Amino acid sequence: MTKRILVTGKNGQLGQSLQKLVEDSSLSLGITAGMVFTFVGRDELGLTCSDSISAFFSNQRFDAMINCAAYTAVDKAESEPELADQINHIAVAQLAEIAKVQAIPLIHISTDYVFDGQSYKPYTEADLTDPQNVYGLTKLKGEQAILASGCKGAIIRTSWVYSEFGSNFVKTMLRLGKERDSLSVIFDQIGSPTYATDLAQAVLVILNSAFSKLNEQQMQVPEIQNSPRRKYPWGAKLKIYHFSNEGVCSWYDFAKAIFELSDVSCHVLPIETKDYPTPAKRPHYSVMNKAKIKQLPGLVVPYWRDSLQTCLKELEAKE
Ligand SMILES: NC(=O)c1ccc[n+]([C@@H]2O[C@H](COP(=O)([O-])OP(=O)(O)OC[C@H]3O[C@@H](n4cnc5c(N)ncnc54)[C@H](OP(=O)(O)O)[C@@H]3O)[C@@H](O)[C@H]2O)c1
Repeated sequence: MTKRILVTGKNGQLGQSLQKLVEDSSLSLGITAGMVFTFVGRDELGLTCSDSISAFFSNQRFDAMINCAAYTAVDKAESEPELADQINHIAVAQLAEIAKVQAIPLIHISTDYVFDGQSYKPYTEADLTDPQNVYGLTKLKGEQAILASGCKGAIIRTSWVYSEFGSNFVKTMLRLGKERDSLSVIFDQIGSPTYATDLAQAVLVILNSAFSKLNEQQMQVPEIQNSPRRKYPWGAKLKIYHFSNEGVCSWYDFAKAIFELSDVSCHVLPIETKDYPTPAKRPHYSVMNKAKIKQLPGLVVPYWRDSLQTCLKELEAKE
């Protein structure tokens, strides 16, 4: 039976990367077979108004929901905490409630910024959270609301997302690197870049594994197939996963690699966080342990420089 999948945030980096995979089965390796995707942006499903969220779901049903929409302006969130909270927390709580009532899984994306950045080893899913800025706090509250709702699905925490879509660090560096002879970039914040296409693939692997599990259950237990109320394919508990590309670097290393791989001769100067003050405090260390997600069959975690090269080629082809 065809599965109908709702994807929010269709114009964002992850939303567009998912669309790219869905439209090109050679990229998604056929794992979207039997699925029909509905991509929506803020015009179809705005997350600032609870009434419009309820209205959207009042006459439509889906078999799964992937929430790619979020308030992602990390610095601006410091001066717009209510709006950030509405989109990253209150609206997410409402989506989780709808997922719970409709007995459909929710796949939601969260962030490395839920951690305090004081660790010296990669954060696991079980490590204590302690966000250091408004954005991180609203994303953590979104996670907590999903867990409290009792809906099934997965929360995927990711970091340093870039892509050929929207605006991001890679595109900003390429633009500035062509305009200037030198650039100062922070070297004392360490993390792992994530190419949005790789993250989109991880989302689809999770989705696919859940539906495969459901099919197995239906074949083994005929009463599930005949039941008017669908059973969850996701096991007893919602899962939290960490996903980024493989390897670690500083923003300075990342910028150096962007220029090196795209033949831009801009000199990169390493500076400390204190020399580049921003409204939102950033974690010094936000590397995440990916051991849990790597257990999923079919999941690929490319090395960050390899994925950066892929993205740069995509950007070049677009020019
Ligand atoms: N970017 C990163 O470095 C990073 C790092 C860690 C985690 N994450 C998480 O990864 C996920 C995907 O991030 P991304 O980089 O793809 O984000 P993005 O490019 O900023 O896209 C976010 C999307 O959310 C939509 N949105 C914002 N406000 C909305 C509202 N009120 N109603 C409906 N839609 C709204 C935006 O719509 P418009 O296009 O119309 O503005 C946009 O399409 C998010 O959950 C984010 O928190 C991102």
